[in-house]
Amino acid sequence: MPHKVFLSRLKLTDFRNYAAVSLDMDGRHVVLTGDNGAGKTNLMEAVSFLSPGRGLRRAAYSDVTRVGASAGFSIFAELEGMEGGVEIGTGADTTDENTARKLRINGTTAKTADELTDHLRVLWLTPSMDGLFTGGSSDRRRFLDRLVLSLDPAHGRRASDFERAMRSRNKLLDEGRFDPSWLSGIEQQMASLGIAMALARQEMLGLLTRLIEETRETSPFPSAALALSGFMDGQFARPAVDLEDDYAAMLADSRYRDAAAGRTLDGPHRADLLVRHREKQMEAERCSTGEQKALLVGLILAHAKLVANLTGHAPVLLLDEIAAHLDEGRRAALFDLIDSLGGQAFMTGTDRSMFSALGERAQFLTVSDGHVGE
Ligand SMILES: Nc1ncnc2c1ncn2[C@@H]1O[C@H](COP(=O)(O)OP(=O)(O)O)[C@@H](O)[C@H]1O
Ligand SMILES: [Mg+2]
Repeated sequence: MPHKVFLSRLKLTDFRNYAAVSLDMDGRHVVLTGDNGAGKTNLMEAVSFLSPGRGLRRAAYSDVTRVGASAGFSIFAELEGMEGGVEIGTGADTTDENTARKLRINGTTAKTADELTDHLRVLWLTPSMDGLFTGGSSDRRRFLDRLVLSLDPAHGRRASDFERAMRSRNKLLDEGRFDPSWLSGIEQQMASLGIAMALARQEMLGLLTRLIEETRETSPFPSAALALSGFMDGQFARPAVDLEDDYAAMLADSRYRDAAAGRTLDGPHRADLLVRHREKQMEAERCSTGEQKALLVGLILAHAKLVANLTGHAPVLLLDEIAAHLDEGRRAALFDLIDSLGGQAFMTGTDRSMFSALGERAQFLTVSDGHVGE
């Protein structure tokens, strides 16, 4: 394994309940403990802003900015990144409503947030994801796309370009403008982007499935069987050009139907991630709450391993309230597994003793009311 990717310093200004805070880290895992509402998840959210997107809460920047702050928030991080030492600064000026997030890497303004993925990959698991298997398909799709994105940074661009093309198709249909050449142009674009998205998802699931298979015997967690459904089911072994032609034809044939529905009814934006508990031969949504959590933890850690194998560097892991609801044996096995990935993990909990099995492998910090101490 090459050098470890880790954060060595994190400074926040007017971020959530932190007016100003600075943390120094020594490369070990970081355990954050403190009472409810102290600011543990907020710190993880700040780290999640070191990846493209709106962070682990998908929050508006105006919500992220500390109440009472005059301008916006800022985050500064020093890290040992995939290409060596790097300084990342990001933030948004929330006095302007449509503000974008600014990003500087080693003092130079980055053109897109995708540049972050040259330096680190960040994966997270938070209690708000507990309902992933029982909730609506859009959360699972987003989860799936984040997994793809951590391997293939171009996936985000493909998805947003697809969305844009689809919106223009919906608008033309809504306005009753059935101009065939105009529509086919847009539908061609949707077809090439949409099939590329679906294939990227399919490829990632294939790799993840193989890795889960290989590590099944030794994993302390149940293993997930993964499948996609809802778009071009069972067809992904066919050449991409054929799939594109089929999807474009499908769109052309469904213009009147989609106009009546007010939206595009076929496409990668309707796909769902199906998860089964392999050992139990049971759909994840029918498993117990504890089993679902264990499946999800197993899935995230398998994916982290996949990212490590493919990029050569373990991702930074943000595991919020990870130790809750696990018995002591499972907890120790979890910590060993996290540590064996070879990266840096941030973990939170209310009680330090839950993390004692980590011993010297972690640095312990206490969070209270927007302050962080030893
Ligand atoms: N924009 C904000 N400005 C000030 N405080 C905030 C802001 N957003 C959230 N908070 C506060 O941050 C506190 C800590 O949140 P959180 O990090 O989720 O706590 P926990 O330690 O339980 O994970 C909450 O009390 C919340 O009210
Ligand atoms: Mg929390």
